[in-house]
Amino acid sequence: MTDLTDLHSDLVGDDVIPHGTDPAERKRVLIVDDDEDFAASLAGLLELEGYQTITAHDPPTAQSALASCQPAVALVDVRLGIGNGVELVRAFRQQSPDLICLMVTAYASVETAVEALQAGAYDYLCKPFHSADLLATLERCFERTRLMEEKRLAAERLGQMQRIEAMGQLTGGIAHDFNNILAVLLANLRWLQEHVQAEPHLAEMVDDALEAVKAGTDLTSRLLNFGRREGGDTVCIRLDEALPDLIRVLRRTLDGKIDLSLQLADGLHAVEVHPAQLETSLLNLALNARDAMPDGGTLRFEACNLALRPDDARVASGLPPGQYVVISVIDTGHGMPAAVQRRALEPLFSTKPAGKGSGLGLSMVDGFARQSGGRLGISSKPDEGTRINLYLPRAPQSLT
Ligand SMILES: Nc1ncnc2c1ncn2[C@@H]1O[C@H](COP(=O)(O)OP(=O)(O)OP(=O)(O)O)[C@@H](O)[C@H]1O
Ligand SMILES: [Mg+2]
Repeated sequence: MTDLTDLHSDLVGDDVIPHGTDPAERKRVLIVDDDEDFAASLAGLLELEGYQTITAHDPPTAQSALASCQPAVALVDVRLGIGNGVELVRAFRQQSPDLICLMVTAYASVETAVEALQAGAYDYLCKPFHSADLLATLERCFERTRLMEEKRLAAERLGQMQRIEAMGQLTGGIAHDFNNILAVLLANLRWLQEHVQAEPHLAEMVDDALEAVKAGTDLTSRLLNFGRREGGDTVCIRLDEALPDLIRVLRRTLDGKIDLSLQLADGLHAVEVHPAQLETSLLNLALNARDAMPDGGTLRFEACNLALRPDDARVASGLPPGQYVVISVIDTGHGMPAAVQRRALEPLFSTKPAGKGSGLGLSMVDGFARQSGGRLGISSKPDEGTRINLYLPRAPQSLT
């Protein structure tokens, strides 16, 4: 069903470490000018420089283009055939406060510049301008959008970490009390089980109740793990020893329809992490893969060393340059649509039916990776499968 050649043979670096908007989306420019020839030549120049352009010649078309294409920057002519560019910039800023507007005027005048800046324009250019000036100004605009995006993400990430921490404490507390309630239920049901053996229909009801208690106990123990993930000592782990052990356990746990394999690179470095959290994380990833392959498939674990250079795209996603070990969990399951992939790390986000998924697995694995100084990357395509890369920093050499 699935051709996973791409996902298998790719370098580990083609995954996405979720961190925000697609870079292509940030290079989109809306050109608003009633002079169609001028707008077309400007668009041609910008396209050559790698920008994506949308042109509009009047305010209503420009406003609907802003809504549908969401450009990061708008180049607006001060005089439009029907309507006024300064008014349009005001309307743009209301419609999309993060949009950066550059006003284009036919003549240099302080009044026009002041009016444009007061309307919310970021800067202005006087016609005729040199293409070098336009490109330098645009670069500044996009640098600004990048910085704004970084600031927004940092604040979002902090909020999310605080939410996860608060939720960890809350779930840990509830799970603990609930576990005690389940323990009472379990003890009583076991007693009943022994005493109703003579009455099969009652015995069957008690068995069903015991099954439900077991499901409840599984859930509470996962919630307890989630709440408990801070703390504990880190240990230097050799993955060439730990991963084969884990695969043995998984072979017993996973469905026989899943073909499990492990590929370790030579000279694998050690990592320094919480051992129980590493195990729980890999188990969570394996269970996600199993759920994505109800009719069976291939589940492959890979591990290799990675020296991340400062110019690597993953550094921009928040992974500091340095030495890592990457553990990849690759399945041939149903994969994730982009909208699911974007939200997959959110705590409590799950696409599984009620009772089948609590949406804590990936968020817990992501928390573990970050806490260990690494990151989690996702590469997934609907109907083609999923590859999760767990980047863990190499243990300090004195330990290996
Ligand atoms: N290997 C995968 N293939 C396809 N989709 C996946 C995979 N891993 C995760 N997902 C998607 O991401 C969502 C979130 O995953 P996560 O592990 O956080 O929660 P869950 O598996 O739904 O619940 P829980 O792990 O708490 O039982 C899943 O519901 C699923 O839609
Ligand atoms: Mg899961």
